[in-house]
Order: sequence, then C-alpha cells, then structure tokens
Amino acid sequence: MEHPIRIAPSLLAADFSRLGDEVRSVEAGGADWLHLDVMDGHFVPNLTFGPFVCQAIDKVAAQPLDVHLMITDPWQYADAFLDAGADCLTFHVEVAAKGDARALLRRIRARGAKAGLSLQPDTPAEALRPFVGELDLVLVMSVFAGFGGQKFMPEVLTKVPAIRAMGFDGEVAIDGGIGPSTIAAAAKAGVNVFVAGTAVFGASDRAARIAELRALAAAAR
Ligand code: DX5
Ligand code: ZN
Repeated sequence: MEHPIRIAPSLLAADFSRLGDEVRSVEAGGADWLHLDVMDGHFVPNLTFGPFVCQAIDKVAAQPLDVHLMITDPWQYADAFLDAGADCLTFHVEVAAKGDARALLRRIRARGAKAGLSLQPDTPAEALRPFVGELDLVLVMSVFAGFGGQKFMPEVLTKVPAIRAMGFDGEVAIDGGIGPSTIAAAAKAGVNVFVAGTAVFGASDRAARIAELRALAAAAR
C-alpha cells in the first residue's frame, strides 16, 4: 500500500515569538502535518518545549500534530502530550530498553494516536524488529537529533527497504536536512513523510517551497 506524501514543516525553525502566525503560514502554504521537536536536554544536548506549548499550538493548528520526543523518559510524558493534542507520537528506539516500549506504543494507539519509533543515524534498522507489530510510523533520522539546519546523511536511506523487509507496512518519515536537493532520494527509497525545518521556514515563499518539495517527492516515486 502506498502512503500519501506528507510534507511536515518542523516548527523548530519557526519564529517562536510569533508561533501562531508561523503555524497559520505553513498551513496556508499546504503543510500536511506540523512536526514538533521535543528535547529534554538529556537524550539530546538541547532543550525545546513541553506539553504546554504543544497544547498552545494545538489550539491554533488545523492540521495533525506530529510530535517527535527526543527525550529519555517517554513513559513519563506520553499522556501529557496526548492530552495536549498529539496526533502522532514518536519516541526513540535508543531508549526502548529503559521501560516497556511495546506497552507504551499500545497505549499511544489505544488513545487514538499514531505510534512511532525513531532511529538515530547510527542505529541499525534491526533495532525496530521487536516493535514492528505495534508501529504506525517509523521516523528515520537523517541527522543526529538535537539541532535543525544540519547536513543530510544519505547513507541512512538503506534502512528504509530493511524496515519494509521486516514486514512493516506503515508510514516512513525522514527528518534532518530535507530540502529540494535531498527529498527525491528519500522519496525514491520509500519515504512518504518529509520533515523539513530550515527548507520551509527559511524560504521566502513557503507555499512555493512546500509545493516544490511535494512535486519533487511525487516525481521520484
Ligand atoms: C532535529 C529535529 C528536526 C529538525 C530538522 O533534531 O528532529 O526535526 O528540526 O531541521 P532541518 O529540516 O532544518 O534539518
Ligand atoms: Zn524532528
């Protein structure tokens, strides 16, 4: 089954002093999902925001919130983000052994959200195998989590067919360094959700950039 192409602007690259306007700007420009990067200063050496800001975004957003938890303890915070409007909740497979990851994925689904796991660039696809049956989405990092504006790592794309070979038929997202020069390779590899921070928020015409990304992805499939 082929999943729809989804362009998911990462709000990490937005102007946080005018977050409502920034959300409306990319939604008017055709964004399919809004990607929210949550960092705890522990799993990654950076801090962003928590459920309170997620809820504020949910109030102004019409499109689904795709929440990417770059945190060591997703068990502690998952319900708070689901309460705050997360439609898709993804945590990192690198922390999966710190608790019952399968139970957490089931909990996310039971609450009506899509459940996702993300892989750092140096984590093999194989790490997902025990969880394939509980997953709606896999988020392949194409930079090391923690900061926007980094350079795309094309070598991570070989994980996409490896994940499919495990029988995973959900959505595959990519995050980091996605823009007009990198999106086609990701689409060709089988990715359908494209997270883009700098490439969308840094564009002078965001609607044109989103349309350009969508067209490049569609042409590469
Ligand atoms: C990195 C984040 C990304 C980031 C992508 O830790 O997960 O979502 O915002 O930013 P760009 O598109 O600028 O590489
Ligand atoms: Zn992200």
